[in-house]
Amino acid sequence: MQAASIFNGKYVVQKKISSGSFGVVLLGHDKDKNMDVAIKIEKEENEDVRSLEREVLVLERLNGIEGVPKMFWHGEQDEYNVIVMQVLGKDLAYYMKNKKKFSFKTAIQLGIQIVKVLERIHNQGVVHRDLKPENVLFGIDDESSKIYVIDFGISKIFRDKNGKIHPFRDNTSFIGTTRYASIAAHKGYELSRKDDIESLIYVLLYFVKGQLPWQNMQNVSDEERTAKVGEMKMSIDPRELCKDVPMEFAIILEYLKQLEYQSEPNYNFVYQQFEKAAANLGVQLDFTFDWDQQQAMKISQNANQESMQRSTTLNQQLQLPSTGEMKKSLDKQGSNLIRQMSNNQFLAPPQSNQLQPHTLKRQDSSQQPSLVSGSVMLSTYNSIRPKYQPSQLGLDVKMSVDSMPKELIQEQRKTSGSAQQKNAQNLYTETVGWRDSIFEENFEEIPLSKKYGMLQQKGVDMYRKPMHSSASPNRQKKKN
Ligand SMILES: Nc1ncnc2c1ncn2[C@@H]1O[C@H](COP(=O)(O)OP(=O)(O)OP(=O)(O)O)[C@@H](O)[C@H]1O
Ligand SMILES: [Mg+2]
Repeated sequence: MQAASIFNGKYVVQKKISSGSFGVVLLGHDKDKNMDVAIKIEKEENEDVRSLEREVLVLERLNGIEGVPKMFWHGEQDEYNVIVMQVLGKDLAYYMKNKKKFSFKTAIQLGIQIVKVLERIHNQGVVHRDLKPENVLFGIDDESSKIYVIDFGISKIFRDKNGKIHPFRDNTSFIGTTRYASIAAHKGYELSRKDDIESLIYVLLYFVKGQLPWQNMQNVSDEERTAKVGEMKMSIDPRELCKDVPMEFAIILEYLKQLEYQSEPNYNFVYQQFEKAAANLGVQLDFTFDWDQQQAMKISQNANQESMQRSTTLNQQLQLPSTGEMKKSLDKQGSNLIRQMSNNQFLAPPQSNQLQPHTLKRQDSSQQPSLVSGSVMLSTYNSIRPKYQPSQLGLDVKMSVDSMPKELIQEQRKTSGSAQQKNAQNLYTETVGWRDSIFEENFEEIPLSKKYGMLQQKGVDMYRKPMHSSASPNRQKKKN
């Protein structure tokens, strides 16, 4: 069956922008308004696993927020769930692929903008939970240096309309993308605002260093990787992690460590640290980026070294504030302180043998091997068998389900000695955790046990003991 090339009678499909494991993003044209749009579609049959419906609910809550794409229309058509939204420019993974590293200036400017967008998102009661380069895009035209955060497919409403914060819980499945996930995500804790900022710092470190120390782990089986990465994040001292970068990154990480699940992060403090880093480096925050002018980039790269020497000298005089000092400083400041085109064959009828497990692995020569996908994930994937063609771009293919339960990780930790190594040179799969529960307005949930039941019906062995949930099983599924 071929899906329509026009949605809602007016959004004409032009090209594919990106295709993931469960959905496709298209460039479309609103023929009434004569403007380009982005169209995100997903087969309805996959909605138990990865819900565009959930993204719609979150985007409705965030509509009109600066730094979040506007949603123009959503609905169902031809067995697809569809979101039509503001079209944006290229994502940061695209620039990383080209540049391999960003200058401090670019990273700091990105940090400043992203933390502001996160603050606005959080103020609407939403925690993103999957901040990564692929999910941060520039705008287009006169917004070409303005940052947008996208992909609310695994976001969560953490605060209800009365301002009550969802109770903390642990023992949840890993959720997020291994490389950038917060320590709390690795521990299986419910994620909160501080975790988005922690992921932001890992993303920025990845930009300036070109890689993170938990990439390219040797002698680790796919199954162990998420746990091992978590252990490494926990054990590494922020100052060691941020050794060759402005110390303000370490200060932010230290600060985040002091926050609890319920804490409202002091966004202003984080923001000021970025400003301070820029000042120490002598960089001007003019919001031009490495790729804006090739010449500017050369200068800024050279400047990186020189200014870092200067900054180090300055930093040697600065001691990382003690908890008390940092608190005092915080009190003082007051609280609350691309599009890549390919042809238009993505909608061709799927072949039953079309999607082989190897297509699940993101192939990216700029990043060295770090295969996360485990047999559980592959079997899950095979059983669900999304019906989209694999990405032509090699940029956005990834697993959407990491069903690895904590118990299994623990079990595998014990048996790690006998774990077989997969020969997976130049491949890595970014792990996105199991969509724990559907959107939680008023904290009602589809019990996970029911959800696993749904998957089991599809032949998926979740290797997981059913979890008990006090949530209402009568949650109404919102349909448009
Ligand atoms: N509004 C948009 N304008 C332009 N490009 C977009 C837009 N939305 C998404 N994209 C592109 O499509 C990619 C995938 O989008 P998104 O992350 O929303 O989909 P996804 O199916 O959740 O993907 P994944 O599972 O890979 O995270 C983005 O990384 C970006 O490159
Ligand atoms: Mg994404």
